[in-house]
Amino acid sequence: MSASFFSRRGRRVMICVRGQCAESNKGKRLEQQLLRLIEQHGLDDPDHPQHTTCRVTNCLAVCSDGPIMIVHPEGIKYQRVDEPALNLIFQQHLLNNQPVEALRVKVSPPRRIS
Ligand code: FES
Repeated sequence: MSASFFSRRGRRVMICVRGQCAESNKGKRLEQQLLRLIEQHGLDDPDHPQHTTCRVTNCLAVCSDGPIMIVHPEGIKYQRVDEPALNLIFQQHLLNNQPVEALRVKVSPPRRIS
């Protein structure tokens, strides 16, 4: 991961692509969609108050009802993220600081060891 991803400023979004909770290509498509939104709205600018970075990751320890997405620094996890859900999360949470309660992971089941 690049140093800028771990920047103390702004938000960091991670989307799982391991494939236990959803098809792995769904997470990759969501990453590309979010990167486009970030760029279109100027959130890739480190000086933007809503500066946001995004990457995929192997697993976010939920492993069901995916794809799973986590938004840091709040640590809020979202489940069943699809394109419309991602648009909503972007508009409501990443732009306007209001987490989308209806999409949050309610209970994280124990992580499967494979
Ligand atoms: S595989 Fe998606 S959270 Fe574990």
